[in-house]
Amino acid sequence: MKTTVFVIHPNIHQSRVNSALAINAGSLPDVNVRYLYDLYPDGKIDVAAEQATLENTDRIVLQFPMQWYSTPPLLKQWLDDVLTYGWSHGGETQALSDKQLMLAVSLGGAESAYQPDGAAGHTVSEYLLSFKTISGYLGMHYIKPFITGGSATITDEEIVAQAERYKTMLA
Ligand SMILES: Cc1cc2nc3c(=O)[nH]c(=O)nc-3n(C[C@H](O)[C@H](O)[C@H](O)COP(=O)(O)O)c2cc1C
Repeated sequence: MKTTVFVIHPNIHQSRVNSALAINAGSLPDVNVRYLYDLYPDGKIDVAAEQATLENTDRIVLQFPMQWYSTPPLLKQWLDDVLTYGWSHGGETQALSDKQLMLAVSLGGAESAYQPDGAAGHTVSEYLLSFKTISGYLGMHYIKPFITGGSATITDEEIVAQAERYKTMLA
């Protein structure tokens, strides 16, 4: 199974969690890692290149840090630009149909804060609900998200262990 990990981090070169996860994922033979902010520093997305990458992938992983209970802005733009009418939906065929979609999301806050009675007030799944809806709309299979909580306080050892779990899950 071919996997592409799209890393959408505005400052990946200062990242602790996402950089470690991406490096570990990229060490697997069938995993291709694309750093979208490095590819498109001016925000001008090469739609044809992204669509070709997606067509050649069985499993699509969108990896990003939670920002204001949402995604970094380039991911929203990527969705708007790349998922075009007649390609991913609205035509006779749907380009992403039957492919897997998985999110890998890091949280600054503890995962325990993401509960109805926690500081975030809602679960991580609730904040990420639009991706599950998009996945269904495009005929994809939505895989349980890979969540890394507590990024603000996580130790180097915990990052190594989490990156190993990520690699095992993607292998
Ligand atoms: C602009 C901005 C907004 C953020 N918003 C949230 C948030 O809503 N919830 C949260 O848990 N963490 C939030 N964070 C913290 C990031 O999620 C955290 O720094 C990141 O997951 C750490 O991953 P990294 O080591 O790969 O940078 C925010 C960070 C930034 C810079």
